[in-house]
Amino acid sequence: MRAVVLVGGFGTRLRPLTSTTPKQMLPIVGRPMIERVIEALSRHGVTDAILSLGYRPDAFLQAYPEDVCAGVRLHYAVEAEPLDTAGAVRFAAEEGGIDSTFLVVNGDVLTDLDIGELWRVHRERNAEGTIALTPVDDPSRYGVVPIDQHGRVEAFIEKPPPGEAPSHWINAGTYVLEPSVLDRIPAGRRVSIERETFPAMVADRSLFALQSDAYWVDAGTPATYLQVQLDLIDGVRGAPERAIAASATVSTQADVEHSVVMDGARIDAGARVVDSAVLPGARICAGATVTRSIVGPDAVVGEGAVLDELTVVGGAMTVDPGLKAHGARIPMETA
Ligand code: GDD
Ligand code: MG
Repeated sequence: MRAVVLVGGFGTRLRPLTSTTPKQMLPIVGRPMIERVIEALSRHGVTDAILSLGYRPDAFLQAYPEDVCAGVRLHYAVEAEPLDTAGAVRFAAEEGGIDSTFLVVNGDVLTDLDIGELWRVHRERNAEGTIALTPVDDPSRYGVVPIDQHGRVEAFIEKPPPGEAPSHWINAGTYVLEPSVLDRIPAGRRVSIERETFPAMVADRSLFALQSDAYWVDAGTPATYLQVQLDLIDGVRGAPERAIAASATVSTQADVEHSVVMDGARIDAGARVVDSAVLPGARICAGATVTRSIVGPDAVVGEGAVLDELTVVGGAMTVDPGLKAHGARIPMETA
């Protein structure tokens, strides 16, 4: 089974963490996001993955010099400029020589979806494409996908205004596609699979979907990037993972609750870290308090600083002692 894995986006919602590192190379409890995504594919029989790259492709090439990740052979398709989701699929499928049924996944989705079942249902229905669906409370930031009683997709509505979604079942970012879908995608320009290709397939009645309530999170925002990690240490997905890396240094006089502290990070005496993620090599100095926030790799949170409400500190940044930040991005975006 071959899969195209979309990992070429800029990760805008996770800035400044993604200012230098692509989203899918950010660590999720100590392991790069891409590794967890590919490992899930490998469990369902994927042997080859074509990484659809755009932003910072070098980060992936350097991380997997043997071109193997979680036991899956990697191939690379590097876009000269962003082609958007369908353009990227077409380009990657061509580069990878795809000529039979294949899988496409959004590379920022952490899920226990049963891909084997998706594949079987796709075959049974003789579909041109089959999308996995997952239920969410607020569908407005996703692709909303109402279906009929036979599982045929009735409409594909990308990011409808809040309150206007016809269903709370959304596109889970995992598709089984026939190669004929590639012929629907114009070459050499940006094409959105959500806004162009899927709606055209709906009109031709060739797009189907399968609902699943398996574990599913799109880790592309600060809130979900944090949540997916707390879920892993809480044991929401199988055995709980270790929250504090063996090589982290946590003072016996620090207070660390329900948080992820990664390799080489330091939490000094009198610091308090709650419901947060402290990335590799970061340091939280004495008397600082970090609540429901993310501290980037090698960043330093100065003495007595207070970070909360999903504050995100970029890699190698220094937060001044005593600074108070609520829901802030440090450094702040400059346009
Ligand atoms: N190669 C390439 N080129 N990859 C891209 C490009 C591009 O131009 N644009 C985005 N990607 C990659 C991103 O890196 C990400 O892994 C994936 O495509 C999806 O892009 P996101 O930016 O994360 O999209 P989203 O989360 O707003 O919405 C998508 O995912 C939702 C589920 O997670 C849509 O597919 C929604 O319909 C869906 O519900
Ligand atoms: Mg996403």
